[in-house]
Amino acid sequence: MRMVDLIQKKQRGEALTAQEIQWMVEGYTESRIPDYQMSAMLMAIYFNDMTDDERASLTQAMVESGEQIDLSAIQGVKVDKHSTGGVGDTTTLVLAAMVASLGVPVAKMSGRGLGHTGGTIDKLESIPGFHVEISQEEFIDLVNKNQVAVVGQSGNLTPADKKLYALRDVTSTVESIPLIASSIMSKKIASGADAIVLDVKTGAGAFMKTVEDARELAQAMVRIGNQVGRKTMAVISDMSQPLGYAIGNALEVKEAIDTLKGEGPEDLTELCLVLGSQMAHLGGVGNDLDEAKALLQENLENGKALEKFKQFVASQGGDPDVIDHPEKLPQAEYQIPVEAEKDGVVSHIVADSIGVASMMLGAGRETKESSIDLAVGIVLNKKVGDRVKQGEPLAFLHSNREDVQDVKEKVLQSISIEEKADALPLIHEIIENA
Ligand code: URA
Ligand code: CA
Repeated sequence: MRMVDLIQKKQRGEALTAQEIQWMVEGYTESRIPDYQMSAMLMAIYFNDMTDDERASLTQAMVESGEQIDLSAIQGVKVDKHSTGGVGDTTTLVLAAMVASLGVPVAKMSGRGLGHTGGTIDKLESIPGFHVEISQEEFIDLVNKNQVAVVGQSGNLTPADKKLYALRDVTSTVESIPLIASSIMSKKIASGADAIVLDVKTGAGAFMKTVEDARELAQAMVRIGNQVGRKTMAVISDMSQPLGYAIGNALEVKEAIDTLKGEGPEDLTELCLVLGSQMAHLGGVGNDLDEAKALLQENLENGKALEKFKQFVASQGGDPDVIDHPEKLPQAEYQIPVEAEKDGVVSHIVADSIGVASMMLGAGRETKESSIDLAVGIVLNKKVGDRVKQGEPLAFLHSNREDVQDVKEKVLQSISIEEKADALPLIHEIIENA
């Protein structure tokens, strides 16, 4: 095979075969195919798209380019969840305990946060003693015993994706549905998931700004998953304002605990029930999504989900007392209100910009090497649709520095107050099949 022939084929808009894609991905990973030829191929894909078969082949080839995690020693259907990235997105913490409380195994591999989106591991590490440095064996034992464990990402998963993503970044070919969908799905599949639930975010704070784009990406990923033998469902959820009220590591853990107590923010609770119902259903619980949702609701009300969270925290060295005494979580020295400059109704809270404000307080990493302050962040006092009076707090900054004028200004720029506000839907669509 010659790469130049494959580039020409894609340029003409023809579909590549599974063998051709396999050969190309392997050759590129092993540096037999140079960046300049792969760049031309990426651009041809960007303009001419890929068929469902090509997308599945590309995903599979990237999965096979590196290590694959074997979770077969865990009993039951291992369901994983992926979010395309949000601000103050506390769902993973809540879902892990909620879904595990129904007996569905949650074997979660997670990363640290970079930029303004927080990472699940950072959040969990704000619980005193909690650690994710456990061996693969311990991880599997814990999931078999408690139905839930979280481990840090390790190993050499999908090296082809790493190399291709870096090349896409500098050749302006990131924003291509077949390339994004195969990139995300290859990582989930290599991590050993039997079934996958996708939370595709849309809105100002999200990668996919419009519902149409989010739908196209969600459907593409659901089709890839099902085609490669991993049952996949998706939810398209709104990320034009942050989810819940809390943004910041320890602050989000407290919000997750409140939610597991049945006292959490309405939007976070509802999204967790919807995503959880897909996870539980794919894991074999409930005849349909509604039944799975009702069972989850029951476990929020009877305390089983909260009990599961306690067990999970303790099993990874964390102090389970934080659940009854959240004041044991790291606390920032100052709580500084950001006051509304006029009367009206909150009409917009730009999620990514609030995320940046939280990062300015030290809650997020600027680079992979930066250290973060687990205590700091922002707690909103108002959400879109809420009425506010001049001088009333819109948000509280939890800060370890006293002078926060820069952050106050950023928050005020992120929140608009008008005479009225359009209602924001939380769930745009639920995709069971695509
Ligand atoms: N996230 C990924 O993992 N891959 C993409 O291509 C885009 C976003
Ligand atoms: Ca939140």
